[in-house]
Amino acid sequence: MCGIVGYLGASEAVPVLFDLLRRLEYRGYDSAGIAILNGSILTSKAKGRVDDLISITPEIGGCTGIGHTRWATHGKPSSENAHPHCDCKDTIAVVHNGIIENYIELKDKLIDSGHEFRSETDSEVLPHLIEECYAGNLESSVRNALSMVRGSYAIAVVSTGEPDRIVIARKDSPLVVGLGSDGYFVASDVAAILKHTKDVIFMDDGEIGVINKDGVNVTDLDGVFVEKKVETITWDPESAEKSGYEHFMLKEIFEQPAVIRETFSGRISSDGIDLDAALPNVRRIVIIACGTSYHAGLFGRYVIERFARIPVDVEIASEFRYIDPIIDCGDLVIAITQSGETADTLAAIREAGSRGSQKLGVVNVLGSSITRDCPCIYTRAGPEIGVAATKSFTSQLAVLLLMAIRLGRERRMISTAEMDDLVSGLRQMSGNIQRVLNDAPLIKECAKLFTDADQFMFMGRGANYPVALEGALKLKEISYIPAEGFAAGELKHGPLALIYDGIPVVAIATKDGVHEKMLGNIKEVKARGATVIGIANESDTEIDKYVDYVLRVPDADPWIAPILSSVVLQLFAYYVAYHRGCEIDKPRNLAKSVTVE
Ligand code: F6R
Repeated sequence: MCGIVGYLGASEAVPVLFDLLRRLEYRGYDSAGIAILNGSILTSKAKGRVDDLISITPEIGGCTGIGHTRWATHGKPSSENAHPHCDCKDTIAVVHNGIIENYIELKDKLIDSGHEFRSETDSEVLPHLIEECYAGNLESSVRNALSMVRGSYAIAVVSTGEPDRIVIARKDSPLVVGLGSDGYFVASDVAAILKHTKDVIFMDDGEIGVINKDGVNVTDLDGVFVEKKVETITWDPESAEKSGYEHFMLKEIFEQPAVIRETFSGRISSDGIDLDAALPNVRRIVIIACGTSYHAGLFGRYVIERFARIPVDVEIASEFRYIDPIIDCGDLVIAITQSGETADTLAAIREAGSRGSQKLGVVNVLGSSITRDCPCIYTRAGPEIGVAATKSFTSQLAVLLLMAIRLGRERRMISTAEMDDLVSGLRQMSGNIQRVLNDAPLIKECAKLFTDADQFMFMGRGANYPVALEGALKLKEISYIPAEGFAAGELKHGPLALIYDGIPVVAIATKDGVHEKMLGNIKEVKARGATVIGIANESDTEIDKYVDYVLRVPDADPWIAPILSSVVLQLFAYYVAYHRGCEIDKPRNLAKSVTVE
């Protein structure tokens, strides 16, 4: 939520900043702005998208600058509330991602000392505080200002008093510096700077960096030098480009065969499963996550309990934090997060650690905050730019399956024959996803029939229940059609009342231990007038008798089929939204990486 950028180097800063901002736009897109140092500070800000900013920005020369793309928290989307924010004399400019919790108290004091505010944001206290502390050294004035601030921040600051310098700092919001051949690149996320360089420094909490032409000097809040490691990012820069696809979401859906190959690469053999982190032997597992990652967690519960016979609880991270959770050192708490930056998930895993539990992360973004908090297993999905999670979800399911098999093997709950079957299923998964993708034109045609639907229901049982929840979430977030996912066995306990003549119901009915029960549920909704779209295996010819439309997945192990069905539902949601003309990569009111509570 909100993206900050900065550039200092040999090139003109404006085009570089625009490029970085465009790549970070998925973090927020209600307003954007830049500030360039060129004797004075020249700012340009606009309500709306980065393209709106570009269209109103005059030619501004200068090789040092900062920028911001906003997801509003304090103050409505407007050019006044857009960052960068300046001090009273327009000599200091700041971009900020995070929340200043004590801003009202700070703002009142600053106003009493004569500061004039021009926005409704919490962030504007920062330039005024830095101005108040400034005595000829930007770094120490930033340090002093931050000592008065409570909350989270990733900031970049420039001042006319110190040309050719950017001061950055981080606490609980991501921040990375790229070291390129023609300059230094600051961003909230590595994906934004990949095109320019793969060599990066990840800033940690409580660190302040000073970037000038000679390099990056990092100190802690007390001014003590911190030796930082330069890390080389293995992601391919192409993976953060649209590469001819109309939307990132579609590109990311189509990347899934390659992603799954990468997720499994070097991790599977008939002897066992090799993962980046140890899986401790525990009495209980608690999975915490938000949104799509939470749905992956629900799938995790089914597969871990099935294959390893370890009890698993799954909790929404924002609830877990506040329920005084009962956990101890006999538990393993697993946080699942694509971004590794979701505020509620990070807070929940820290809460778990403080109560003595063992911790593990399942994460996609390299070097993200969670990787600094606990051992992690990477999903290896590559940069995901579309706001709606797709390839990150299927790679999470794949990792959870690997974990379940590994735990099951270690606890001798899986026989060799079962292991062989599962390994062969995993090896075929990428090819099977490709076969689903080959049916995209059929899915598109089917989706078109439902472009004007007022409402949708998704139902599944067992491991297909989380798939139903995720299918509904995908559809509602990008098409804005109200959609409810539920466990089909719950129909008679309430949801059946929602069924009316013609309501589309998506029934995930691949062959598994509850297939017949699922057919019964389909009959129940059909009898009340629903139009049923069944997701079924290729060889299931019986299903045609029960449903109005069928979308197929290859015949696969019942624990692998949910991953294939998820891909069908991603395409279905994409095409419904596409036919409705929705802005698919940037759904209204949403942003990727929810770094605020
Ligand atoms: C939905 C979506 C969100 C995220 C959620 C958690 O498509 O992307 O529901 O899954 O915000 O994000 P991460 O996984 O980054 O913690």
